[in-house]
Amino acid sequence: MVHGPNLNLLGEREPEIYGRTTLARIDDQLEELGAELRLKVETFQSNSEGEIVDRIQSARGQIDVLIVNPAAYTHGSIAIRDAIQAIDVPAIEVHLSNVYKREAFRHVSTVADVVHGRIMGFGPDSYLLALRAAAGLIAATSSRRRESR
Ligand code: DQA
Repeated sequence: MVHGPNLNLLGEREPEIYGRTTLARIDDQLEELGAELRLKVETFQSNSEGEIVDRIQSARGQIDVLIVNPAAYTHGSIAIRDAIQAIDVPAIEVHLSNVYKREAFRHVSTVADVVHGRIMGFGPDSYLLALRAAAGLIAATSSRRRESR
């Protein structure tokens, strides 16, 4: 689970858009749901594009699904897009807000066409829905593997 810039301020930042739930609380909820789904969840937040690229790269070969909210980098980062493509696992793009209900510059995503799917507009639940979707992807992959044996 990779959280991009300014998401460390969740809870205080523009609560009318992003709600009052802190990032620490979201990460706790993800870990709880992960335990229920028997998935190990690792969380990471950075305000820096390079650190996000480094974290995605270091997940190469280590994870089954990447869930990422690139935050403002969604709307301009080719480096994060390339990193998502480079690790070659299904990725899920998450946003708390429905970016299409907001300013036009948020309607552009540099990662939208390299991710498996996108979930947005459900506040902190967007992350939990993404984790459930990740569990579905993992289950589908392992049942395909069993079938091909
Ligand atoms: C966001 C939407 C982005 O446009 C914005 O820059 C963010 C948060 C969201 O989760 O709704 O920082 O990714």
